[in-house]
Amino acid sequence: MPELDGRTAVITGAGSGIGRGIALVFAERGAEVVVADIDPAAAESVADEVRALGGTAHAVQADVTERESTDGLLTASLEACGRIDILVNNAGVGGAPGWWERSSPTPEDWEATYDVNVIGIVNVTSSFQDHLQERRAGRVINIASAAGRRGAGGFAHYSASKAAAINVSQGFALQLAGHNVNVNCICPGLLWTPLWEKIAERDLIKSGETAQTGRQVFDERLERSTPLGREQTPEDVGKLAAFLASDRAKNVTGQSINLNGGSYVN
Ligand SMILES: NC(=O)c1ccc[n+]([C@@H]2O[C@H](COP(=O)([O-])OP(=O)(O)OC[C@H]3O[C@@H](n4cnc5c(N)ncnc54)[C@H](O)[C@@H]3O)[C@@H](O)[C@H]2O)c1
Repeated sequence: MPELDGRTAVITGAGSGIGRGIALVFAERGAEVVVADIDPAAAESVADEVRALGGTAHAVQADVTERESTDGLLTASLEACGRIDILVNNAGVGGAPGWWERSSPTPEDWEATYDVNVIGIVNVTSSFQDHLQERRAGRVINIASAAGRRGAGGFAHYSASKAAAINVSQGFALQLAGHNVNVNCICPGLLWTPLWEKIAERDLIKSGETAQTGRQVFDERLERSTPLGREQTPEDVGKLAAFLASDRAKNVTGQSINLNGGSYVN
């Protein structure tokens, strides 16, 4: 029997990149998924992909920065699935709109990363907390970043938000452990998603380099920083999240797990 058979999962930011990968792996392993995203068309498109593969998916539009919207996500998820077992807080941004065109972060970039990458986790988890506590069997998985493990020159607003996401995960883990709700965090390294395409574009604008492509910028970073020499994929993150959501991880909580090809070890 697939290990997530009969489970229900809500994944935020699932209309793209890593969140999409998690939704596809969860569905493949038997979970019914709620594909939540601020972009309703992107959410619907990933839900369609899951259905085309034989899974069950519901698309819900939700903005994780607004508590009213995350309360609405809870209501819509319960209407669709009846109960929720797994919550994945994946939605994240690199700054305020257009951040990749700026050479250094503005106050709006600091605010936007904190709003989505930190308060987003707090809002969604708080909306779902009572439900997860009552069921005494919940799993919360937060997607932080390798960037949250140490400061990043020129991208400190993002790395600081991810460091906070790791710490917030630890706090929720301790708070919810008495209700048999496990909370863990994944720190991915380098994945070629729309987010990283924007990071590469920003690097190219900053350097004035015109001969290189964004993908080349990514590959150079990968070669410099990753001992295993391989990029990580959304499917890799989906598999680790599936483990954390499964019975095999029933005694794992409060942990931040690196998935980075060895770029940072601890
Ligand atoms: N790509 C990487 O190399 C990498 C590495 C480490 C961590 N991460 C983290 O993984 C997560 C996913 O990143 P990705 O690379 O897939 O990026 P992405 O840009 O491809 O996807 C992010 C998704 O989040 C959604 N989103 C943005 N703001 C939202 C909001 N307010 N409410 C709801 N949804 C919102 C977007 O619409 C998009 O679908 C992020 O938290 C990111 O910080 C990415």
